[in-house]
Amino acid sequence: MDYKNIFSESNEGLMKIFINRPSKLNALNKETINELSSLFKEAENDTNTKVIIITGGGTKAFIAGADISEFANFNQEQGEKLSAEGHSLLFDLVENLSTPVIAAINGFALGGGLELAMSAHFRVASDNAKMGLPETSLGVIPGYGGTQRLTKLIGKGKAMEMVMSAGMITSDEAEKYGLVNYVVAQEELIPFCEKLASKIMRNSPVAISSAIKAINASTNSSVDGFKVEIEEFGSCFATEDFKEGTTAFLEKRKATFKGI
Ligand code: COA
Repeated sequence: MDYKNIFSESNEGLMKIFINRPSKLNALNKETINELSSLFKEAENDTNTKVIIITGGGTKAFIAGADISEFANFNQEQGEKLSAEGHSLLFDLVENLSTPVIAAINGFALGGGLELAMSAHFRVASDNAKMGLPETSLGVIPGYGGTQRLTKLIGKGKAMEMVMSAGMITSDEAEKYGLVNYVVAQEELIPFCEKLASKIMRNSPVAISSAIKAINASTNSSVDGFKVEIEEFGSCFATEDFKEGTTAFLEKRKATFKGI
């Protein structure tokens, strides 16, 4: 499928998704959100895709936020709808995707951009990146999961400060807060994420998908994460990957996982 605001490259199980609206610093308009939603669903259903890296096209921005020009005239009802649709179309979708998603933050990750990075399973930033949730400076609050995911990732005090101050933090601060796992030079960002992806791809895709469900359950207060872990642990025993992984270990050879 052809997309206007994003493009992707796939090679040996790795899909790289680039946001491509450089003139608007990759701001997320409705069309881009729809395109991303559709591509993530496509990737999820493609068993050849083992890991996804999402990044911003160009060198300046990952995503500079939701497209402000699209909602500046919205009323209360439209604002609520914008937020709810964003959650289900993209941000919750990415968080709950069974294929691992790494956000490669290559520049500004603001508002909806940081919220999308926080929906990914983990994050790596380039040393020039700047991150923030500037919504209160626009008279609104983060509406794509930012108040919830930021708090869970960095704790209530730091989240309160970032949201209330509407300021930006550096990559080094983000690493210190636990918001990103690593900081690397900008030219190293994609190769570094590719190396992480190749480590992930050595392991069982079905076990990884179970792990995502169980770890996500730990931050969902409406489910018992321990119960989810027990169920997912048990379901692994019914897979060919489990048989292959344990047999390969006992036979002192490398496992070849089929993801079933
Ligand atoms: N929504 C819509 N357009 C945006 C945007 C956004 N979130 N972020 C940047 N743009 C557009 C700018 O309007 C500008 O478009 P124009 O050339 O047609 O005027 C273009 O992208 C380049 O941005 P500009 O502000 O000129 O770049 P800069 O280097 O001076 O500043 C930022 C970079 C990121 C600091 C600044 O663009 C910014 O503050 N953006 C908004 C961030 C924000 O509040 N995001 C949260 C939204 S909820």
